[in-house]
Amino acid sequence: MTKLKFQRPTGMPDILPADQIYFEKVLRLAENIGDFYGFRKIDTPLLEETALYEKGTGLTTDIVQKQMFSLRTRGGDNLTLRPEFTPGIIRAYLEHGLNAWPQPVKLYAWGPVFRYEHPQAGRYRQFHQFNAEVIGTSNSVTDVQIIQLFFNILNDLKLKKLVIEVNSIGDSACRPYYKKLLISYLKSRALGLCVDCRRRLRENPLRVLDCKEAKCQEIVSGAPQIIDHLCDGCRRHFKEVLEILDELELPYRLSPYLVRGLDYYTKTVFEIKSEEEAENKRTDALAAGGRYDGLVKLLGGPDTGAVGGALGVERVIALLKAKKRKEFQPTYPPIFLVQLGFLARKRALKLLEEFRKNKIPVSECLEKDSLKAQLKLADKQGVRYTLILGQKEVLDKTIIIRDMKAGSQETVKLDKIIKEMQKRLKKL
Ligand code: HAM
Repeated sequence: MTKLKFQRPTGMPDILPADQIYFEKVLRLAENIGDFYGFRKIDTPLLEETALYEKGTGLTTDIVQKQMFSLRTRGGDNLTLRPEFTPGIIRAYLEHGLNAWPQPVKLYAWGPVFRYEHPQAGRYRQFHQFNAEVIGTSNSVTDVQIIQLFFNILNDLKLKKLVIEVNSIGDSACRPYYKKLLISYLKSRALGLCVDCRRRLRENPLRVLDCKEAKCQEIVSGAPQIIDHLCDGCRRHFKEVLEILDELELPYRLSPYLVRGLDYYTKTVFEIKSEEEAENKRTDALAAGGRYDGLVKLLGGPDTGAVGGALGVERVIALLKAKKRKEFQPTYPPIFLVQLGFLARKRALKLLEEFRKNKIPVSECLEKDSLKAQLKLADKQGVRYTLILGQKEVLDKTIIIRDMKAGSQETVKLDKIIKEMQKRLKKL
């Protein structure tokens, strides 16, 4: 085959019709669960000021340093395609005075997210997130409600062996001391770290903790754990989170080196994975998030506690697709309309309109001429009834109903067909 002139941009998948059903079902379920917990939907622009992410997501994060799709508009504004939802949602919360609403404000959003990553399975440059934020509360129970929301989406999708990894990364009262301890531990072992981690050691030492390189992981396995150095407030908060997780019998595991790749987190951080996936040597997080008590203030608002998370829709769909479950296969109408010859084709278009007005789904293939080809298609779609309209039937004002299951057929008056099919479909 000759090389196509145009191809989609690297790491940016097309979502073909067969995949749409997965997106629709996952997002519908996520919205229903969000609605139940009292979340309301928000949409923010795909583009935001670049400075919002530099400040909000954080200058030392991989996202800001290497992954943003940024542009300069004709008017000279510096904008960036959203690499995550959180800063944009907080910007909207402040810009529209949502901080004057009864607190907390619970918001969900979903849509495409852009990160200039090295594309590989489960890692794209354009992907979709379902994102949820609770803004205006510092209560530990909210951390668990967010975890529960994401866990329940995955659980209701019947994903198996789900595990919630949790940790607390403290706050501005206790993290600086821990950072010092960590830096002194890592400095003496710096030569054994990868190049990226030697840079991280200078800029954001906590990020060394979740480096995937084997040599770094070995060094990290002996590092001091932040959980042993939390201040009283953070320790109490984390204890409460664990107690509520126990109460809800959610399957969690303490993950002492989980720090997450975004700068704004304080206290609780979490990731939800499927261990089934781990058996296939894939351990990507399906959903992740945490508390971020400093972000609203950092973006110019009042001191406000908040917690949230996001689910990677493509990663979840990849797991669902591997299972080839029936509920995600395309469904077809129970009726197929076969037409033979120009006269019948003309009449068929009119008849289809009558079915549409009566809300009876019917499929057809107006392009095909032969009876055999159309019946083959009807059979492939597993329809119960095929309606056959030929020249003779049009002239006689009749139509043939073929019951594909019983293998029988019958001719009825064309003007009675809607009523007849309504009657038959009721019995299915
Ligand atoms: P994040 O961990 O960067 O967090 O992304 C959340 C989820 O998005 C990941 O767990 C993963 O499932 C999916 N994801 C991330 N990168 C990719 C990629 N390149 N390709 C496919 N899927 C990906 C956030 O974005 C935070 N804003 C979450 C949050 C909300 N924290 C508080 N509120």
